[in-house]
Amino acid sequence: MPDQAPIGVFDSGVGGLTVLHEIRARLPQESLIYLADCGHVPYGEKTPEFIRARCHSIADFMLGRGAKALVIACNTATAAAAADLREAYPQVPIVAMEPAVKPAAEATRSGTVGVLATTGTLKSARFAALLDRFASDVRVITQPCPGLVERIEAGDLSGPQTRDLLRGFVQPLLAEGCDTLILGCTHYPFLKPLLRELVPADVSLIDTGAAVARQLERLLLAREMTASGPARAPEFWTTGAVENMQGVMPVLWGSAEKVDFFAG
Ligand code: DGL
Repeated sequence: MPDQAPIGVFDSGVGGLTVLHEIRARLPQESLIYLADCGHVPYGEKTPEFIRARCHSIADFMLGRGAKALVIACNTATAAAAADLREAYPQVPIVAMEPAVKPAAEATRSGTVGVLATTGTLKSARFAALLDRFASDVRVITQPCPGLVERIEAGDLSGPQTRDLLRGFVQPLLAEGCDTLILGCTHYPFLKPLLRELVPADVSLIDTGAAVARQLERLLLAREMTASGPARAPEFWTTGAVENMQGVMPVLWGSAEKVDFFAG
C-alpha cells in the first residue's frame, strides 16, 4: 500500500530549501511540508538546549499534520537534537545531516580540506566524532561564518555585503591550501554561484543535500512507506514574519508560494 502522507522537512530558516529542492527532484511523488523556524534563526549561535526544545516543538507540529517521516535539513539542529528526536520518536524515520567530511577527505588532492559551518556545528561533539572517524589522514581547517545565514535569509545571494562576508571566510581557507570546501550548513549551497566567483576553478565545493534525498528514499523503501503520487502542492510554514518568507520564495524556491504562520 503506498503511503500518501507527507514528509516533514525543517530548518532554522530558509536554508533547508536547498535540501527540499533535492528531495523534490529525487522523490517527485512525495508530498512535502516545509517549516522554517525564522522566528528563531540563526541557530548557529544558540545553545544546544534551546535548539533541542525548538526541534521538539517543530517535530510535534509536523507529526500532528500527519508527517510519516522527518528530515532535519539543518546541520546545527542535527548536532544538537538528532539523537534526542530519534529517542523521542523511535517509530518515525528521521533523516539528519552533517558536514560531508568523508567525501571531502576522499576527494582532496592537496590533503587540506576547509569546512564552512556554523559555530554550533563546529563546536559539537558530533562534529569532533566525525573528524576522528573520517579525517585522520587529512588536515581540516574549520571556519565559522557568523552573519552569513542572515544574508541568505534576506534573499541576498550576491550583493556587496554577502560578497565581502563570504570572501573574508573563504580567503583564509584558500591561503591554507584547501582544495576542497565543505558547505556544512544548508543555507550555503545558495551561495555556490558566488563562491565559484571567489575560489579557483579547481577547488571543489561539497554539500550533502543530494545524499540526504537518497538516504530518505532508502529509508522509505526499506519501510515500504513510499507514496505513489501525485504529490500535493508543498506546504510552507514559518515561525517568523510570513511576508518575509513569501518575499524570498521566488529567489530561493523559484516560485511565489503561500506561506502560513506557525506560532509554536
Ligand atoms: N541551516 C543551518 C545548518 O545547516 C543553520 C543555520 C543557522 O541557523 O545558524 O546548520
